[in-house]
Amino acid sequence: MMNGLYVKSVRIDEKLDEDSYLSKIPAVRQLEEEPLDFERQVSFFVGENGSGKSTLMEAVAIAMGFNPEGGTKNFSFSTDDTHSDLHEHITVSRSAYPKDGFFLRAESFYNFATNVNKLDAGGSVPLIDLYGGISLHEQSHGESFLALVKNRFSGHGLYLLDEPEAALSPARLMQLLVLIHDLTKEDSQFIICTHSPILMSYPGADLFEFSGKGIKRTEYKDTEHYRITKAFIDKAEVMYSHLFDREEE
Ligand SMILES: Nc1ncnc2c1ncn2[C@@H]1O[C@H](COP(=O)(O)OP(=O)(O)OP(=O)(O)O)[C@@H](O)[C@H]1O
Ligand SMILES: [Mg+2]
Repeated sequence: MMNGLYVKSVRIDEKLDEDSYLSKIPAVRQLEEEPLDFERQVSFFVGENGSGKSTLMEAVAIAMGFNPEGGTKNFSFSTDDTHSDLHEHITVSRSAYPKDGFFLRAESFYNFATNVNKLDAGGSVPLIDLYGGISLHEQSHGESFLALVKNRFSGHGLYLLDEPEAALSPARLMQLLVLIHDLTKEDSQFIICTHSPILMSYPGADLFEFSGKGIKRTEYKDTEHYRITKAFIDKAEVMYSHLFDREEE
């Protein structure tokens, strides 16, 4: 077990502006009342679309010195200023400092890959070697993402990943679980937003469920993702009849 976490606790000290959309997100609102405490090396943000997972992850990333567009701390490219100002309101406490880190923003892996290429064309260091030697654009989405994790995540790091499953087949998701497991043995901390029941099953992880009621800790088999996916796979016919009958009423 590592000595300390790179993100130990997140709270809001400065009250949010009542007019801001941020103050309408119950998960964000809750941080005004109580801090969100991290206790494990792997934590997942789960919950319904629009419940505030990416908003909070982005704010933590920016507060920790990452580029809002994603990437390592050395990347400073910018395409579109779409992040909220939540990072100005939160305080992140830590009990250790990371030596490595990466912020995967759901929408911006493509821009990140382009930037690696650009820097490679212009610089004296063959940057692409750090990413496995092949342009991230010349690999499929999933291949390039796994190449990034394998080659670039070096341990003792803070890794913030927003829906990494978007790129990955179920088999590759299991490979990602192995890579996560190996990196946690090297003192890494992961915070991952996900809708993937495979990914969120990681043993010993903390699951934070975001909802209209705020954020609460939950267990894997109590998540909606697990229950609905299981019901669907076990009894697809029953699900179809519910879904389609209702539509035809
Ligand atoms: N720029 C913005 N202006 C107004 N509302 C916004 C803005 N950006 C996000 N929101 C709202 O904030 C809420 C939280 O969005 P967020 O992207 O954090 O959700 P999420 O939990 O990551 O969802 P998903 O699972 O779909 O990725 C949503 O209701 C969204 O519509
Ligand atoms: Mg999101």
